[in-house]
Amino acid sequence: MKKLIVVVMLYCSTSPAWATDAKLENIQIDTSVPAIERGVDTLMNYCHSCHSLKYIKYRDLATFGIDKKKIEAWRGDQPLDAAMISQLPDDTALQMYGKVPPDLSLLTKAREGGTNYVYSYLIGYYITQEGMTSNHVFPETRMPDALGISGATEPAQRDELQGKAHDIVSFLAWAADPHEEERHRLGYYVIGYLVILTLLLYIVKNQIWSRLK
Ligand code: HEC
Repeated sequence: MKKLIVVVMLYCSTSPAWATDAKLENIQIDTSVPAIERGVDTLMNYCHSCHSLKYIKYRDLATFGIDKKKIEAWRGDQPLDAAMISQLPDDTALQMYGKVPPDLSLLTKAREGGTNYVYSYLIGYYITQEGMTSNHVFPETRMPDALGISGATEPAQRDELQGKAHDIVSFLAWAADPHEEERHRLGYYVIGYLVILTLLLYIVKNQIWSRLK
């Protein structure tokens, strides 16, 4: 419920600058542990200096099956139950970028276009004719081109960075709903339980009625 309220607030509070008509890329989210591990790894290297994920604890990564040694390295001397908070203070961010980088925990849910939007945004940087950096889906963005895609001219280099963006977005999709898999699993248990219960009741009913016949 708390998360829902936050999502609604995010919808209402951000400026509609991101709502451009640019066509979004269509990507398939990879929910496998290796993809999400690559995603969080890349995010820690390229994004966490500015962005927090306040609803994700390091322990959530461990529970999901991310390499414990990597988690140790990321959290340093913070406890396993610490949230993934960036070291960048809000006032410093404001001075440097004129905006506080938004928390990324729920971002794929807070933007129209969801994961497709975030992916298109990350790879949407380009150099204008005037030599400025701009972004196809969010032209006025204050965020620097973190992955450096605007300078990637070689197709192989672009592919690599697009792969990185893809992994980050897979991780962010997981982060926005880390208990989805658990819920699905629970759903199967509940259905299995109901099927067995129905069979047992059917057998009991037959026994009772056979005595009456
Ligand atoms: C140097 C600091 C910095 C780094 C590094 C950085 N960001 Fe940002 N990011 C920002 C700022 C500042 C904004 C706010 C942009 C705005 O609203 O103009 C932002 C905004 C965003 C948004 C929201 C865009 C929107 O629609 O409002 C997303 C998504 C995002 N960043 C993802 C990432 C990811 C993923 C990475 C790593 C690849 C990353 N950022 C790296 C500073 C940073």
